[in-house]
Amino acid sequence: MKRRLPTTNDKSNRGEGPLRKNLVYCLLGVVILLVILLMSGTTVSVPNNERVHTVTDVGQSNVNEMVQKIVDEKLMDMMLEFKEDQRKAADLSSRFPVKKIFAKDRKRILVTGGAGFVGSHLVDVLMMQGHEVTVLDNLYTGRRKNIEHWINHPNFNFIVHDVVDPIQLQVDQIYHLACPASPPHYQHNPIKTIKTSVVGTTNMLELAARVGARILLTSTSEVYGDPIEHPQKETYNGNVNPIGPRACYDEGKRAAETLMYAFETQSKVEVRVARIFNTFGPRMHPNDGRVVSNFIIQSLQDEDLTIYGSGKQTRSFQYVSDLVNGLVKLMEGDYTQPVNLGNPDEYSIGDFAEKIIKLVKETEHDTKSSIIKLAGTKDDPNKRQPDISVAWNELHWKPVVDVETGLKDTIAYFKKELEEEGRTEPIKPQELRGN
Ligand SMILES: NC(=O)c1ccc[n+]([C@@H]2O[C@H](COP(=O)([O-])OP(=O)(O)OC[C@H]3O[C@@H](n4cnc5c(N)ncnc54)[C@H](O)[C@@H]3O)[C@@H](O)[C@H]2O)c1
Repeated sequence: MKRRLPTTNDKSNRGEGPLRKNLVYCLLGVVILLVILLMSGTTVSVPNNERVHTVTDVGQSNVNEMVQKIVDEKLMDMMLEFKEDQRKAADLSSRFPVKKIFAKDRKRILVTGGAGFVGSHLVDVLMMQGHEVTVLDNLYTGRRKNIEHWINHPNFNFIVHDVVDPIQLQVDQIYHLACPASPPHYQHNPIKTIKTSVVGTTNMLELAARVGARILLTSTSEVYGDPIEHPQKETYNGNVNPIGPRACYDEGKRAAETLMYAFETQSKVEVRVARIFNTFGPRMHPNDGRVVSNFIIQSLQDEDLTIYGSGKQTRSFQYVSDLVNGLVKLMEGDYTQPVNLGNPDEYSIGDFAEKIIKLVKETEHDTKSSIIKLAGTKDDPNKRQPDISVAWNELHWKPVVDVETGLKDTIAYFKKELEEEGRTEPIKPQELRGN
């Protein structure tokens, strides 16, 4: 699709509207001030009508000079502010060019969890396609800075809200992502996690049923648990421990999938279900305890990379832009059954750690890190690899970004994050009950 840069009369992007308003208020204030000062100054008239300058007149001219100085300074500040706004707007529209589309083609799209890692990248794509996007997020693991660049855009809305509470909105599509995704985050408050999946998904489905919106759930490869079948196909029913430390997330997502198809059958809601495998990229939470973020942060901070277990266990990692592309294709397509979205390229954790050290060194950071092995964690799957033939056959989707390219972007992001936020302490093995 061809993208167009925003036109120069897109005031919201340039911040020109508020500036003009400020200028008018400022000038009005100055005029009122001058009128008051002129009225308070006194002149004395002598009988032959000759005007005589008084001490008050001398004070008056000083006041006028002062007022002029203040006005000049204020105008200068406003000019600088205006230039800065213009620079930011130009930067935004070159990084995130928004397509102009006809109103009839513009969808009202709700993204729950849109301030999180995956959600914020999805929001970027939907905004750039020219749609009207509403992010609904309770900011539990999401961050305002992930979506800050859209805050004043006329097509964008942000609602701080918890999906466990119902909400009334008019929307055409719902991407339902709201749910903490990394083990330390979802295990921090397991009751809330399962409520978010079950009550939150029910609320979103009821909203979809009420307004006739299509809804997509971001489910997870965790519905397969510690799989006995490799690679995992969508027809595999999984091997999940219903009372283990990961159950609040795994069983929560399984119940959410059940709800999706119950609403499809009973309330005729149009549903889509994505089963997402390990995803990485910029805007991951630095302290989410996942293998990619931990290894990169440890390496950038010259700490040893910690492998739990032998390091022979395998994982497959997909880059976030591939995932977002798959989510949009799934939402727009006709296929209604669950679809695996992941990168089937497999890496042993040991090889992956070495790759990260090598790539960090290439960024001119001569890391002193080496690799250490610690005891494995409970229920850690030995192998996790998606079978993506359904995604290919039904959506014509497959990942296109190779892991090394994605890792370079992610390392650059974490480098900047550490410069801005200072040192961070990656979650330790004993805090990682699983994954
Ligand atoms: N990243 C992955 O590797 C991965 C893998 C499988 C599935 N997923 C799924 O994708 C979705 C997004 O994951 P992510 O990696 O971006 O995680 P994330 O933690 O970065 O994003 C989740 C977002 O949901 C918000 N949220 C959490 N609970 C909420 C609630 N009760 N009400 C409103 N907002 C709430 C958080 O504040 C955050 O912004 C999740 O549903 C997750 O289960 C992700």
